[in-house]
Amino acid sequence: MKHIDAISHVTGQSVFVDDIPVRTGTLYGSVFRSPAAHGRIRSMDLSGALATDGVVRVLTASDIPGVNQVGGIVADEPLFAVDRVTYQGQPVALVVAADERVARKAAKKIRVDIEPLKAVFDAREAFKNELFLVPPSTIRSGNIGAAWDTCRYIFEGQTGTGAQEHVYIETQGTYAFVSEGDNIRIQSSTQGPTHVQETVARVLGLAMHRIEVEVTRLGGGFGGKEDQATAYACMAALASYILKLPVKVILQRTEDMEMTGKRHPYGADYKIGLSGDLKIIAYQAAFYQNGGAAADLSPAILARSLFHATNCYHIPNTEVTACSCRTNLPPNTAFRGFGGPQGMFVIEAAIAHAARELKVHARAIQEKNFLSEGDQFPYGQVAKQVNITKCSKLADQTFDIDGTMQEVASFNRKHPLQKKGVALMPICFGISFTNRSMNQARALVHIYLDGSVGISTGAVEMGQGVNTKIMQVAARTLSVPVSRIKIETTNTTRVSNTSPTAASSGADLNGKATEIACNRLANRLRKTAATMLDEDVKKISLDNEWVTIDGVRSTLSYADLVKKACNERVCLSEQGHYATPVIGFDKSTGKGHPFAYHVYGIALFVAHVDCLRGTYRFDKVLIVHDFGNSMNTSIDLGQVEGALIQGMGWMTMEEVVFDRDGKLLSNNLSSYKVPDIHSVPRKVTCIPLPVKGPKHAILRSKAVGEPPLMYGIGAYFALQEAIRAFNPGHVPDLIAPMTHEKMLMSLYG
Ligand code: MTE
Ligand code: HPA
Ligand code: MOS
Repeated sequence: MKHIDAISHVTGQSVFVDDIPVRTGTLYGSVFRSPAAHGRIRSMDLSGALATDGVVRVLTASDIPGVNQVGGIVADEPLFAVDRVTYQGQPVALVVAADERVARKAAKKIRVDIEPLKAVFDAREAFKNELFLVPPSTIRSGNIGAAWDTCRYIFEGQTGTGAQEHVYIETQGTYAFVSEGDNIRIQSSTQGPTHVQETVARVLGLAMHRIEVEVTRLGGGFGGKEDQATAYACMAALASYILKLPVKVILQRTEDMEMTGKRHPYGADYKIGLSGDLKIIAYQAAFYQNGGAAADLSPAILARSLFHATNCYHIPNTEVTACSCRTNLPPNTAFRGFGGPQGMFVIEAAIAHAARELKVHARAIQEKNFLSEGDQFPYGQVAKQVNITKCSKLADQTFDIDGTMQEVASFNRKHPLQKKGVALMPICFGISFTNRSMNQARALVHIYLDGSVGISTGAVEMGQGVNTKIMQVAARTLSVPVSRIKIETTNTTRVSNTSPTAASSGADLNGKATEIACNRLANRLRKTAATMLDEDVKKISLDNEWVTIDGVRSTLSYADLVKKACNERVCLSEQGHYATPVIGFDKSTGKGHPFAYHVYGIALFVAHVDCLRGTYRFDKVLIVHDFGNSMNTSIDLGQVEGALIQGMGWMTMEEVVFDRDGKLLSNNLSSYKVPDIHSVPRKVTCIPLPVKGPKHAILRSKAVGEPPLMYGIGAYFALQEAIRAFNPGHVPDLIAPMTHEKMLMSLYG
C-alpha cells in the first residue's frame, strides 16, 4: 500500500500549519532573542518596537499569567528569559503585529543591555567545572576492575561526534486562537500534542481541558519537535489569550536554526580490552554530552546512550558513565536515534582503534563479538530473538564481503591517487521509550452508519507513514478496504494524555491500540450478525465486507450489518488502550528490561576517496535489515534509505559551527550542507532478513524509524579505511564528522 499522503505531498495539496487559511484579525508573532550567550540582563528597551506602525503588543515574562516555565523533565527553562540569558537565540520577548514582516522588523528594534558572564560551549570544559544538567549516571556489568588483568591487549583513547541540525522541511510553527469561554485552540507542528497542551496550561495558569491541541501532520520532525515545538506554541497561545485574537508564530529557517537545539555533540573517553583471539573482555567509557543551556530531553537521551554503549556486542565486563553537561548553547534535543548513535559510535571507534593496532580489519573484531541468544545486555535485559549473526551471514552470502574487500585492495594497488575503504556497520537498537510510563497509547474508532470508519489516535504523522500503517491495521482487523477508512487529525480532545510520537514506537503503540479497538468492534459486529442470522458466533467472521458462516459468504454484507447493528442500538464506537507489557527499568540498580524488543541489521560500505582533492563519495551501501514481518515494504524501505542518508550526513558533511561567542555560523542551508541526491551512494541495496517478527511489534512488523540511522556510522569508518590506504601512518582523531576539508587534512597529516 502506498503512503496515504504520497499524492497530496507531491501535488502540493498537503496542509501544514502555515497553510491553514487564517481567520480575520490574525496577528503574527516574532521572537526577540538573546544576542549574548551568557549574561545578566541590566535593562531592556521595548520602545522602538512598540513605536513601530502595526505593532500591537510586545510580550515578556511579566505578561505570563501562569508559570514562566517550559522545561519537560527538569523545570529549568523559562519561556522568556528573566534577569539572565543563557544562550544566543534564547527567547526574551514576543513582538505581535498585524503583519509578519512588521513583527520581524520591530523585533530588531528592541534593545537589551546585557552584562556578560563567562560562557562555556564545550562539554569537557563544562565537565571540569562540574556544570551538570543532571547528576552523572553509570551502567556496569561483570567486574571491570578485575577484567583488565585478563586482557591481552588494552587500548585507550578519546573520540567524539558533532551536533546535527534537524532540517525538517517545515520549520517550527503554531497557530492559536481563543474560542468561546476563553478556551484556546492550538494548531501546532509538534510531535507531542499533550506536551504542548500541558505546557500551555502551565504557562497560562489554566486547566488542561481548556487547551485543545490539533496536529494534522508535520513536514518532518526527526525528534526536533518532540519537545521544542512547545515553546512556540506557548508564545502563540499566550499572545492569543491576552489579545483575544488569532496569533501565528512561524520561524524562518535561520531563526529556527539559531534558536532550536540539535543532536547532542558528545565527547568520549574509552578503554577496550581484548583477549588474544579478539574477544572483547572489558569496555569502559565516559560520555560527555553537550546538553546546552537547559535539560530539555537530555537526561533521557543520556540513558539511551548508556543502553546502546555496547551496540550489538556481548562484552562481559563493562562500565559506562555518562555526564550531561550544561553549556551556553541552545538546549540540545531529541534527534533520530536519541543518544543511541552517539553511544554506538564510541564502541565502533574503540574497535577501529584496536583493529588498527592489531593490524586486522575491524570486521574480525566485530564478528567475533556479536551477541548470542540469551546473552545479557549490560543493563540486565536478556537478549532474545537475536538476529545480528543471521544478518551478518546473509550479508556475507548475498554481498560477498570477502570479494568486495579483495576488489577494493586490488583497486587501491592500481590507483595511487584514488583509494577505497570498506567498513561494516552492524546495529542493535532497543524499541520502547526508556521511560516506562510513556509506553502507552489510545485509539478512538468510530464506525459510522454507512460503514465508513474514522480513527483518531495519539500518533503524529511526520512523513514516517504511521497513519498509513494504522489504516492497514484497521482495514485488516475490520476486514474492510482502506477506502472505507479515514485517519483523523491528532487532537487532544479525542485522544488524551498521549506520549509524543517518538522512540520509533508510534506505529507499535498506536497501531496496537487501534487493533484492540477494532477487534472489539469486529467482535461486537460478529455477535450482532450471529443473532441476525441465528448462527453460533464462533462460526461467524467478517471477510472483505461480507459476513461469512464457517468461511462461506452469507447474505449479510458489512454495510447492512452496520446499519442494522445501529438500529439495534449496538455501540459502534470503541476506545482501545495499549500499554507495552513486560518492560521496566530500575534506575537505582541500573538493571531491568527497558525494551520490548531489539532491531538488528548490518550495512556494508564502500567509500571512494579522491586523494588529490580530498573529496569522496560512496560507491555502495549494502544492507541486510531486520524488519520482522514488514507490514509495508515501501514505507519501511523508505525509512531505511532516509535514515541511512541522514546518518551519513551526520558522519560526513554536516557540521554545526558556532563562533567564539556562541553565535551559530552554520545558520542557513548554504553554510550547513545536508546530503542531496549527489551525495547519495551510487548504489543502495537493502534486503530484509527473513524472520518472524516479535509479538510486541504491530502485526510483527518491527519499528523502523530510527534504527537504520546508525548504519550511517559505517560511512565514517569506511572513509578511515580509505585514508589508511593512502596514508598508512595517519593516526585518526576519531572525531566525526569527516568533512571533505578534514579528509584533505587527514590524507596529508
Ligand atoms: N521519517 C520521516 N519521513 N520524517 C520524520 O520526521 N522521524 C523519525 C522516524 N522517521 C521521521 C521519520 C523519528 S526521530 C522517529 S522517532 C520515528 O520516525 C517516529 O515515528 P514512528 O514511531 O511512527 O516510527
Ligand atoms: N526515545 C525517544 N523519545 C523519548 C524517549 C526515548 O527513549 N524517552 C523520552 N522521550
Ligand atoms: Mo524520535 S528522536 O524518538 O522523535
